[in-house]
Amino acid sequence: MIESFLPLHPRFVHFPIALLLVGVAFVAIGLLRPGIAERWLWAGRWLIFLGWIGTIVAGITGLVDQSRAADTLAVRDTVNLHITVGIALLIVFGLALYWPLKQRDLWRTGSQRWAYLAWLLLGALLVLVEGWLGGHLVYTLGVGVR
Ligand code: HEM
Repeated sequence: MIESFLPLHPRFVHFPIALLLVGVAFVAIGLLRPGIAERWLWAGRWLIFLGWIGTIVAGITGLVDQSRAADTLAVRDTVNLHITVGIALLIVFGLALYWPLKQRDLWRTGSQRWAYLAWLLLGALLVLVEGWLGGHLVYTLGVGVR
């Protein structure tokens, strides 16, 4: 019965990818608009929060699927890198959520605002790397399909 739902992970990975990337785009728009657009910032931060939860769910389902993957060196190395980038995603976006809570005037200070945006762009880059590694696992190494 449970077999018909496997692999589980590909059913969940699109949510964090989309939520985090759109969340970063919304915050970027909020910061770049003249006078700071609070509503874009608010919506973007909520999307990032939901994407962060989605990353945890993707990680859990990934661990379930990983246990069924072929145990070759290439698969093991790529999965380890995929897990490392997943943990980095949780840290980078976790701090991105915490930072404005800790420092309420973050948007008002020019240099900090740009530092925050750069931090989010680093997170977006990690999302792309994570997706690419996942695609490499499936479409090059055949995990979950062979
Ligand atoms: C502990 C963390 C993770 C593990 C162990 C893991 C493991 C895997 C495995 C084994 C696959 C191959 C397909 C399968 O058998 O399901 C895969 C694919 C993939 N993973 Fe992960 N993953 C993790 C976290 C993540 C996260 C956080 C994301 C996205 C934010 C992600 C995105 C993807 C994508 C896009 C694919 C390709 C799916 C497809 O094209 O069918 N993974 N992952």
